[in-house]
Amino acid sequence: MERRSFLKSLLGIFSLSTFITFLYPLFRFLSPGAHSAKKIQVTIPKTKIPAGEAYRTTFDNTPVMVVHHPNKGYIALSRVCTHLGCLVNYDRSVDRLICPCHGANFTIEGKVISGPAPAPLARYPVSVKGENIIIG
Ligand code: FES
Repeated sequence: MERRSFLKSLLGIFSLSTFITFLYPLFRFLSPGAHSAKKIQVTIPKTKIPAGEAYRTTFDNTPVMVVHHPNKGYIALSRVCTHLGCLVNYDRSVDRLICPCHGANFTIEGKVISGPAPAPLARYPVSVKGENIIIG
């Protein structure tokens, strides 16, 4: 093989690999189903959360508090405080979620009432099917 044809072959291989390197992400982006999010759900039997009580679980690797409010039904909120990430607890006596670290108070809907938390708690969709509560 002559030197010139060898270099042409090498250049061709390099060009092809470069082309594939850029084409593959484009193909993955445009292919159907590439962005379909995996549907995550958590099922909790209704019997585990009597009215007025709260239940701790995790949803998508996030600690979650599911509250069975007598008037507002089931509410699922992230327990991760938006200040510095401590885990909030439900205080039934005042019907609030309270952060033990710096005292942030949240309503049962996750809105900040007081304290240093800069944003509300994340809220997750809840549905009731038969005897189960489904988060997600
Ligand atoms: S971490 Fe919750 S108030 Fe600071």
